[in-house]
Amino acid sequence: MSTIQYGDRIPNNVGLGEDRVLQRALEHWQPRFLDWWKESGPADFQSADVYLRTAVGVDAKGWASYGQVRMPDYRWGIFLADAEPGRKIGFGDAMGQDAWQSVPGEYRSMLRRFIVTQGDTEPASVEQQRLLGHVAPSLYDLRNLFQVNVEEGRHLWAMVYLLHAYFGRDGREEAEALLERHSGDPDNARILETFNEPIDDWLSLYMFTYFTDRDGKYQLKSFAESAFDPLSRTCRFMLTEEAHHMFVGDTGIGRVIRRTIDLMQELKTDDPAAIRRAGGIDLELLQRYLNYWFTSSLDLFGGEDSSNAASAFATGIKGRPDEAGYADHIERDTSFELARPVADWDGSGDGIGVDEIPMRNATNEVVRQSYIRDCEIGLKRWNRTLERAGTGFQLALPSSHFRRKIGAWASVPTDPSGRRISAEKFSARIGDWLPSADDKAYVKSLMVKVHEPGKMAGWIAPPERGINNLPLDHEYVRVP
Ligand SMILES: [Fe+2]
Ligand SMILES: [Fe+2]
Repeated sequence: MSTIQYGDRIPNNVGLGEDRVLQRALEHWQPRFLDWWKESGPADFQSADVYLRTAVGVDAKGWASYGQVRMPDYRWGIFLADAEPGRKIGFGDAMGQDAWQSVPGEYRSMLRRFIVTQGDTEPASVEQQRLLGHVAPSLYDLRNLFQVNVEEGRHLWAMVYLLHAYFGRDGREEAEALLERHSGDPDNARILETFNEPIDDWLSLYMFTYFTDRDGKYQLKSFAESAFDPLSRTCRFMLTEEAHHMFVGDTGIGRVIRRTIDLMQELKTDDPAAIRRAGGIDLELLQRYLNYWFTSSLDLFGGEDSSNAASAFATGIKGRPDEAGYADHIERDTSFELARPVADWDGSGDGIGVDEIPMRNATNEVVRQSYIRDCEIGLKRWNRTLERAGTGFQLALPSSHFRRKIGAWASVPTDPSGRRISAEKFSARIGDWLPSADDKAYVKSLMVKVHEPGKMAGWIAPPERGINNLPLDHEYVRVP
């Protein structure tokens, strides 16, 4: 296993010290990154001591150490999963050939675009969450937020390393631009829409880390299959870090549900107004937040029928998560049955037709469907909890045809189950399906900071255990 060089100014396991030119270029970028972190990272907590984990190795077991760290002192660096000697390309037209250790000239711009788009999401999410620390429901949650934030900062490093090491001058320019765009900036926004939407309450944060970080997981898994070996290796280690981000969302939503169930049992009612009077989050509101973040995350996979996705697959640049599980890794003459809205639907029949398209063109949709199956795992668990508590309420993922802005179903009015409806009915009902202004104001009213160790805000249950075997009332963040 490779060891991480913490003696270097930029911690790394890529032998940075042996490439003076690259090292100098990255050392030039480093202070700009730190300036960005101070301006756009968590507001007002830069001098707090935070119980953070830091990577010490890149293997799955025991890869991190824990300790109190001021966030600007976090050792951001470049950590790639170890090389697999003799690794071959696992899919597409070049299946079986040696994986690439440098960028083939003809694929340079496609690869760079993918790396920049992935890299752009990482600092974007830190910017979106910048103010959340002010209203953390506990020190435990505050620490988890900061852990996610520093690791998204490290994921930016992961992509910037590739840009600097493999894309010459345009790579360096793209690395600068990653620090210049800003989430929600009307003049210089982040590339993808979901990453320009503000996250100013913790329910949205849990939804974002459950649904949007999970999109990240699926993008990283697609790149982990890439023929471009450095991209594959960097994404494989990012996935190790990413698991914690989804844990924050998964357990966060679970704790909100547990608290609401407690209130329902205490008050002997499932009336949302009564739950709200008691300071809890009613399950109907939770479903509307879920509808919003899930559908917004679905768009991140791109169009259902995509020639770009087909060429990314054909060339070996971007594959399918867990490619080894597919029977056919080349998919040259195979096809996919794609559900599409019937144009000029007159209200008779279901208004859904089927197109047979080349399987490679359907790669985005194939990946989206495996993502949806992964999302369902949490839903099943939460629904079991709701059922055992006798609530009679079940959460549901909306259809992938509902409220889409990208792809075959963009702007096609459907209800959350995917049934086509008229545009009038859609605009009359959409307020029932997505968070209303009133919902958002209510959630905002619940956001109060709780800084006493072990204490939780009233709308959320405590977690089952603390971090790294520490007790729940450990002072995970020491606020000066
Ligand atoms: Fe990330
Ligand atoms: Fe993440």
